Amino acid sequence: MPTKKTLSCELADLDEVIIEEAAISQRLKQLGQEISNEYKGRELVVISIINGAIIFTADLIRQIRVPIQLDCIRVSSYRDDTAPVQAPEVIDSIRLDIKGADVLLIDDILDTGNTLSRVSEIIASMAPASLKTCVLLDKKTRRSVEFEADFVGFKIPDEFVVGYGLDFAERYRQLPCIGILKSELQNPPEWV
Ligand code: IMP
Ligand code: MG
Repeated sequence: MPTKKTLSCELADLDEVIIEEAAISQRLKQLGQEISNEYKGRELVVISIINGAIIFTADLIRQIRVPIQLDCIRVSSYRDDTAPVQAPEVIDSIRLDIKGADVLLIDDILDTGNTLSRVSEIIASMAPASLKTCVLLDKKTRRSVEFEADFVGFKIPDEFVVGYGLDFAERYRQLPCIGILKSELQNPPEWV
């Protein structure tokens, strides 16, 4: 039986770094300011779409200066490859009662729009007072459903990226920057 190759999950697996760690942290300070201004004098419920938004959410909420209640929602929208699955499913919903609350829904990346539009519908059906969305990355040219986020960190080209919470087959989330994964690593047979 062939032995499983050990994967490095290192910066060397990237073709190119498109957003450096320092640029992310600088942009998060600005986003935190924008969000704090928007919700001044109010309390905010932040709902993070996991796993992808874990790292972005953790860093962003520490830049927000209004009180926050945090919850997570787990959705399946991608399998272990780079092709989107059409209908995202909620695997684990939120625990907080968000009726009448101001809600900010956070995801790592807005791609076809299927995930955020579906999760927004589900959250909206729970009768919050308001609902806005925030994404770290926006691949605008890939949209298949009409959807725009209220707060966007960076607009990026149509490339498969990993790092800072974004994964390929649950790997690379720990990279501190965001980069384009080498195409030969996007479907290596030893991962299957
Ligand atoms: P959408 O439903 O097509 O908008 O895709 C959103 C989800 O797909 C995100 O939450 C990510 O988990 C995943 N995704 C989309 N593009 C990428 C990418 O370039 N790298 C890693 N994950 C991605
Ligand atoms: Mg993912």
